Amino acid sequence: MSGDGKELDLEEAYAVETPDDNRDLYGRWASTYESGFATRHAYVYHERVATTFAGAAGPDDDPVLDIGCGTGLVGEALRALGGWTIDGLDLSPEMLDEARRKTAGDGSPVYHDLHVADLTAPLGHDDDTWGAIVSAGTFTHGHVGPDAFDELYRIARTGALFVVGINPDHFEGQGYAGRFAADADAGRITAPDYHHVPTYSLGDHVDRLSVLAVFRTT
Ligand SMILES: C[S@@+](CC[C@H](N)C(=O)[O-])C[C@H]1O[C@@H](n2cnc3c(N)ncnc32)[C@H](O)[C@@H]1O
Repeated sequence: MSGDGKELDLEEAYAVETPDDNRDLYGRWASTYESGFATRHAYVYHERVATTFAGAAGPDDDPVLDIGCGTGLVGEALRALGGWTIDGLDLSPEMLDEARRKTAGDGSPVYHDLHVADLTAPLGHDDDTWGAIVSAGTFTHGHVGPDAFDELYRIARTGALFVVGINPDHFEGQGYAGRFAADADAGRITAPDYHHVPTYSLGDHVDRLSVLAVFRTT
């Protein structure tokens, strides 16, 4: 619940504008994000990211960084499908506390390392650190935009697999297709494949298809 007792939902998520807004919102939302929002809408986005990743990944696509990992739904879905080493990164310490508690089927923690970081700023991670990047729900209104990819390409190894979910209106409004086309022309990434996947399976937003951009760094 938010401070006024109202359940937090998409209305609040789409109203944020700055990293401070995000830190505040997700700090308040962390404990009810899964039991409230994700359950209410029958959120399936994380499962679609995980199955798309599993279908495209090879043995070198490891370790995996889940950016804007939140409470860890993507990591949990990935661990159910394969034996990848998964790290998570998020702006919100409270969301990461939820992710830290998650365990896989074998009882081990879902995430190997969890990092507090702001994707709209330079990241304090070394070049060529991760073999894959995944994300659901982070590239959306007032959260993180296409400029974040410069740093993501830097921290990913050459040949790293990206499976990144993007809100469809944000994808159009922020010019992601043009950005990725320019990056492919410049030899930074392969030409992306775009998958259109359900985000929710219940409620008013059930017809909203998110865009999954699938490509590799070159
Ligand atoms: C809608 S939630 C998605 C969480 C998770 N990936 C999922 O699918 O359930 C968006 C996440 O992005 C994170 N976030 C927002 N802005 C960020 C930023 N600038 N840097 C890093 N994470 C950010 C939020 O803290 C939140 O955990």
